[in-house]
Amino acid sequence: MSKIIGIVSGKGGVGKTVSAVNLGLALHQFGEDTIVVDADTSASNLGMHLGFYSFPNSLQNVLTGDIDADRATYMHHTGLRVIPSAIDLNSLDASVSKLRIALKSLPNKYVIVDAPPGLDEDSRAVLDACDDVIIVTNAEIPAVTNAVKVARVAQDMKKNLLGVVVNRAQGTVWELTPQEVEMMCEAPIIGTIPEDVNIKKSIFEKTPVVAQNPYSASSIEYKRLAARLIGKTYEPPKFMGIKKLLGML
Ligand SMILES: Nc1ncnc2c1ncn2[C@@H]1O[C@H](COP(=O)(O)OP(=O)(O)O)[C@@H](O)[C@H]1O
Ligand SMILES: [Mg+2]
Repeated sequence: MSKIIGIVSGKGGVGKTVSAVNLGLALHQFGEDTIVVDADTSASNLGMHLGFYSFPNSLQNVLTGDIDADRATYMHHTGLRVIPSAIDLNSLDASVSKLRIALKSLPNKYVIVDAPPGLDEDSRAVLDACDDVIIVTNAEIPAVTNAVKVARVAQDMKKNLLGVVVNRAQGTVWELTPQEVEMMCEAPIIGTIPEDVNIKKSIFEKTPVVAQNPYSASSIEYKRLAARLIGKTYEPPKFMGIKKLLGML
């Protein structure tokens, strides 16, 4: 049976798409059959993170019942499977209420759903289409305050809240501490992804950072998160700095 994991947030721009793509690829690299679905239909940029700009079929065609999900599935050169959302404006009113049926029809073991932010009607429908939920936030008060609301709604919907991923962490005194984030969200932090310039580079190069720079600080944390979800642990190779210098990594 598939595990449908929603990557959600209270606030936009906190790193849901980056997290969906890199968690998805890390799971794939651990040998898990994984697909990432772009359910953020009004800001559909999962495809753009991977260099898919023009594709004949999208999630919208699946939701309208025109095609089966496999016809809207594309494979990135890293091996990551995705269902992108249409980029054109005409596709904004696709029915997300049919999303659950579409997600359930997927044969993959892990279905990672890149959700819209907030709690409007579409966002709630996407949340409701998932079984498990990961909340992505930055360690700042506005982002965490909105994350708290999403955590409450997810709990009211009886979703399995796997935990919180704190993204773009810099460890400054202006950020909330991990303990504060956990107390506010009433959920454990399951990943802390540092601010990492390699992420911007990877978006520019249209390849997830986990593949593009596998031992960057953010890649290591995405691999730890993926390992944790499948009940494993991940540690990067020892003496990484020296091995990188010697061209061994
Ligand atoms: N860990 C990070 N380090 C540096 N930049 C990041 C990081 N995570 C995200 N970003 C930047 O933030 C932008 C927004 O991320 P994105 O995943 O698109 O957010 P969301 O999907 O939540 O709207 C990205 O385009 C990238 O430039
Ligand atoms: Mg996004």
